[in-house]
Amino acid sequence: MPLARFLWLLWSLQKGLVHMDVIALLKNDHKMVKQLFKEFAGLSGNRTAQRKTALVEQIRHALTVHAQLEEDFVYPAFKEHRTMKDLVSEALEEHHVVRMFLSELHEIQPDDEQYDAKVKVLNEYLMHHVREEEKEIFPQAEKRVSAARLAALGEEVETRRSELMGEGQDRKEADVEVDKQEKKLKRDARRAA
Ligand SMILES: [Fe+2]
Ligand SMILES: [Fe+2]
Repeated sequence: MPLARFLWLLWSLQKGLVHMDVIALLKNDHKMVKQLFKEFAGLSGNRTAQRKTALVEQIRHALTVHAQLEEDFVYPAFKEHRTMKDLVSEALEEHHVVRMFLSELHEIQPDDEQYDAKVKVLNEYLMHHVREEEKEIFPQAEKRVSAARLAALGEEVETRRSELMGEGQDRKEADVEVDKQEKKLKRDARRAA
């Protein structure tokens, strides 16, 4: 079992979240990404450029995995319900815009004039997307999709996530950084609990 998956499970068990449905899992991801943006916004002092690059790579990795999981499992299940069709189509377009931001950021360095502005606007745009998911799509899903289906989706998402996290023998530096950051966030979450 990959270390990140093990830590995720350990943390979930401690939080009593091991049976959580897919909505709780996705909200958890949102919270973790918000933390990464918060750290970025608070950066100052020496080695800032290096940390900025690492953080943006973590954000890119986390969002890429999260969006893929939503698109492969969650959105198709929600889209089966007529009332959610338009909301999900809109969300898919928003993922597209987020991916464009991420790929542009990947191409430039922190000393680029537009770097910080791009991260800031990405954060604002993403928060708009997250708000729509949490305030419109998820409440609809809680009404329309059965608890059993939401729990089953949660399991599918976690299985796929662990496959994605364990992919490849030579793990990229970004993956290692994501693991480190996840450990830190989980430590912080445990402390706050
Ligand atoms: Fe999401
Ligand atoms: Fe999303």
